[in-house]
Amino acid sequence: MLKIAVLVSGGGTNLQAIIDAIESGKITNTEIAVVISNNKNAYALERAKKHGIEALCISPKDYENRADFNEDFLNRLNSYNVDLVVLAGFLVVLPEKMIKTYQNRIINIHPSLIPSFCGTGFYGLKVHEGALARGVKITGATVHFVDEGTDTGPIILQKAVEVQEGDTTEVLQRRVMEQAEWVILPQAIDLIANGRVSVVDGHVLITE
Ligand code: GAR
Repeated sequence: MLKIAVLVSGGGTNLQAIIDAIESGKITNTEIAVVISNNKNAYALERAKKHGIEALCISPKDYENRADFNEDFLNRLNSYNVDLVVLAGFLVVLPEKMIKTYQNRIINIHPSLIPSFCGTGFYGLKVHEGALARGVKITGATVHFVDEGTDTGPIILQKAVEVQEGDTTEVLQRRVMEQAEWVILPQAIDLIANGRVSVVDGHVLITE
């Protein structure tokens, strides 16, 4: 059984997709041990509680400095002994120690086809703003392992989504979520839970 922690900051629709996929059997061999938010008002925390999942807020606002927050966050995460950490709209820069501790055991969902519209400053609606400003016809989403860089880790799954004429950032965001994010994030967790994902020379290999 793969024990996962899901880290969130906002609405938690990707968390919901994971919960639904576990409940419907689309994700197998997996249990959510804890949901952690840096923001106490995140609706994601309510979603977790509604499904009887432990949900907590660890906010940098409650600490004197960033180093204390980082240390306590990591200690509390470690106490759940999870196999995989899933960043589902978690908008906090991860401390290096956490990335080292969980090497190839942290995954992130990003709302573009990496390496387009990713890196520092590209998160949430800003990603779609960038795509619309450039006039791309195809965008999508990417699930990748997290390394020391921003959105630079090995890519696990990607799915393309069409941009349509007249799209606003909100309309495009919703389409990318529905057609790509909520599909490939649960799929990636299921692949990992069933031992089908390995990283070889910095690239992901998916076996049958
Ligand atoms: C999602 O679109 C996710 O891809 C994005 O934040 C949103 C969270 O929505 N993440 C990033 O931009 C990370 N760079 P949710 O809280 O409804 O799942």
